[in-house]
Amino acid sequence: MAKPYLRVARMKTAQDFRDYVAELGIYLPLDEKVEPAPDGALAQTYTLKTGRVIGNRFSILPMEGWDGTPDGLPTEYTLRRWTNFGRSGAKLIWGGEAVAVRHDGRANPNQLMINQHTLGGLADLRQALVGAHQAQMGSTDDLLVGLQLTHSGRFSRPNEKKRLEPQILYHHPLLEQIYKIDPNLPVMTDAQIEDLIADYVRAAGQAHALGFDFVDLKHCHGYLGHEFLSARSRPGPYGGSFENRTRFLRELVAGIRRDVPGLLLGVRFSAYDFPPFRPGPDGVGVVQDYRDINGRYPFAFGGDQNDTLTIDHSEPRRFLELLQSLEIELVNLSAGSPYYNPHMQRPAYFPPSDGYQPPEDPLVSVARQINNAATLKASFPDLAIVGTGYSYLQDWLPHVGQYAVRTGMVDFVGLGRMALAYPEMPADVLAGKPLDRKRICRTFSDCTTAPRNGMISGCFPLDDFYKALPEAEQVKQVKAEQKLAS
Ligand SMILES: Cc1cc2nc3c(=O)[nH]c(=O)nc-3n(C[C@H](O)[C@H](O)[C@H](O)COP(=O)(O)O)c2cc1C
Ligand code: SF4
Repeated sequence: MAKPYLRVARMKTAQDFRDYVAELGIYLPLDEKVEPAPDGALAQTYTLKTGRVIGNRFSILPMEGWDGTPDGLPTEYTLRRWTNFGRSGAKLIWGGEAVAVRHDGRANPNQLMINQHTLGGLADLRQALVGAHQAQMGSTDDLLVGLQLTHSGRFSRPNEKKRLEPQILYHHPLLEQIYKIDPNLPVMTDAQIEDLIADYVRAAGQAHALGFDFVDLKHCHGYLGHEFLSARSRPGPYGGSFENRTRFLRELVAGIRRDVPGLLLGVRFSAYDFPPFRPGPDGVGVVQDYRDINGRYPFAFGGDQNDTLTIDHSEPRRFLELLQSLEIELVNLSAGSPYYNPHMQRPAYFPPSDGYQPPEDPLVSVARQINNAATLKASFPDLAIVGTGYSYLQDWLPHVGQYAVRTGMVDFVGLGRMALAYPEMPADVLAGKPLDRKRICRTFSDCTTAPRNGMISGCFPLDDFYKALPEAEQVKQVKAEQKLAS
């Protein structure tokens, strides 16, 4: 089926981009010209309240590769990815990738883990990143490197790539239907949650000892931290009221501050969410409907419970107020989930194999993330806010990013997939070099399709290293079979 959306690669000038954005009726402003260092907005430093200086306004978002060893250590693939993150020139490395605080919370059997046995491997990763950054940028004094701590909750697959072993906080009838989860599965007990908090505190101490500047207490993408925020139907101290739904975060922070003073904390959270989407008869995503006894959809944190495709800022604002009161300055805004509404989370022209054709122009999904970040930033000027969803902008990423930073819509431009396809983009932009167009991420989604089909992740279409691996051919086959089936 031909898509009705104009491909970004076809927009040859900033005016073409503006014209198309106007046609879509969305707000997505950009600068005509990108200014390099030292004067450009993206080259400016950011000083945290602790006095710590971050050397520019690019951030590398966390991205895992499904490529660790079964016992949670990095491999040569992981090392290469982190080396690329360091080479990128971005001065804020937001977490590297999701690292499980214990085995049962791994999103896949190859996810990294943090425990006594993996400390050497994690130290090597950090060192590879810092060394590559030093070689590329000549200094690491203004580089801030975090580690993202996670438990995958409902999406845990610790032992087999295809077998969910969910740990849930509450029953979500739509997700239970889609992922074939037993509707009678017992929810995690309060005592189990307390044990998990102890694991996070232990992991934070280990990350600090390894030299990480901060840990991200991940609250996004449908994983456990995010699930707490929508646990309205859960009884007891960790569910129901906003206060209870954020108790997990507050207890994590209290434990880490008690045992690991001096470690900076950050939080990446899905600042809005919508219900799951599934492919309709023509393959285009269709929102799934569920109503509770009050006629509401109660499971989307930051979503309007009465109107499921509308953002409701009230609780995300309260969450940011809470972060501020906890003296957490580093905030990273994402949206939705890569499993049940991927078009919102990582806008793409070509969907991953377990996804659906985008139900809206991906630029609309990009604009939603960027404008949502701007709305929240306007209310919380003192927080250091990283924005997400920029990769689909492709050639226009630096132009839109510069506008957003220059006008205070956001503090840092986060790069996800672009950093897999073209890690040096930030360094090239800062140096005033023309972009290497052949390496710009065109959102083919192979980096998501591969792991969804049991393979390691990587940019198979554009990165010569991954192009040469046997998995590149396997991904092509998966996509060809999918095309035939549709
Ligand atoms: C292959 C891959 C792995 C990812 N792994 C993580 C992760 O470990 N933690 C996380 O918070 N987000 C993860 N993400 C989401 C990205 O950080 C980012 O939010 C998303 O790709 C949208 O940004 P982009 O448009 O710049 O790609 C991953 C995304 C991709 C494509
Ligand atoms: S595989 Fe490469 S081009 Fe495709 S979405 Fe991922 S990073 Fe972008």
